[in-house]
Amino acid sequence: MKSNIKAFIFDLDGVIVDTATYHYRSWQHLCKSFGFEFSEADNEQLKGASRMHSLEIILELAGETRSEEEKIRMCAEKNTWYLESIKEITNQDTLPGVQAFIKLAREANYLIALGSASKNAIAIINQLGLTSFFDVMVDGNMVTKGKPDPEGFLLAAQKLCVKPNHCLVFEDAAKGIQAAQKAGMYTVGIGDPRHLGAADMVIETLLNQTPKGILEHI
Ligand code: BG6
Ligand code: MG
Repeated sequence: MKSNIKAFIFDLDGVIVDTATYHYRSWQHLCKSFGFEFSEADNEQLKGASRMHSLEIILELAGETRSEEEKIRMCAEKNTWYLESIKEITNQDTLPGVQAFIKLAREANYLIALGSASKNAIAIINQLGLTSFFDVMVDGNMVTKGKPDPEGFLLAAQKLCVKPNHCLVFEDAAKGIQAAQKAGMYTVGIGDPRHLGAADMVIETLLNQTPKGILEHI
């Protein structure tokens, strides 16, 4: 039992809400414009990466190069499609068990932070009506380096006034697990153990999980 854990830090896309699918479809849409078949396996590499880093990974996979100006335009275009695709999401679209889990964690006096690489994260949390769940929110506008860099998670810990080794991070991305480990934090991977095997513990979903149960296993 990790009794020194004081704070839980949650990634957004693929952990709180299934926006990872919408990111994927929006990139697919963009890839069609230059004839690249962007697969789900390729998409795994993008999870947790910033918008620009994601585009750079795609261009490399496609064997394409673009000017800085063009890359900025492509990122803006992808984001327009993405925002259009998520405009109807509501509180009903959160992933199984996540709201109940955060409520239990708050009742047990754990501090709760958002640690997302997305520049849209805070607006999405507002749209889901979950702002009051979080003591602190860190999004992609507050950092200069995306995951796997630990900057975002370290900033969340600093804002919560807790040491990194007192934090437990919930992530669906291999890059996110790496970022948390570089920050010196404990990790729970949510999703496929084939991608998240480096985490201290991997679960399929947060459904029926409790903070006590998780802390007994890491
Ligand atoms: C991360 C996602 O949370 O945010 C990535 O896993 C995404 O897929 C990144 O590229 C940046 O998101 P946004 O909303 O700033 O384009
Ligand atoms: Mg994610």
